[in-house]
Amino acid sequence: MVAHRIGRAEEIAMGAFTPVKVGRTSILITRLPSGDLTAIAAKCPHQGADLAFGCITGMAAGADPHSLHQQRPGEILRCPWHGFEFDLVNGQALVEPSSLRLRHYPVRVEAGDVFIET
Ligand code: FES
Repeated sequence: MVAHRIGRAEEIAMGAFTPVKVGRTSILITRLPSGDLTAIAAKCPHQGADLAFGCITGMAAGADPHSLHQQRPGEILRCPWHGFEFDLVNGQALVEPSSLRLRHYPVRVEAGDVFIET
């Protein structure tokens, strides 16, 4: 694995992607509500849509249509092409086939600098 410095930790916002290019690989970084940073491949594992145009959201839940609320805000990614949803924490698809997974890259912060390993 090779570590690539991609910027400062304070530049990575919650609820939005920071796109970076490592060689020919497009990677998206975001800050989860927990404060952790996560880095994923920008290509959807379904049919390759650019996830930079996706929406970071949560899951709607409730016992009836009048009591809906959002669970896990900021932890779910909705693909812009077919609307499949993925868990940004573990990469798992929330739709079938559940074998679809986001590709994650290890991220670490050292003295405020963010490194991605590829
Ligand atoms: S390309 Fe992302 S859900 Fe189909």
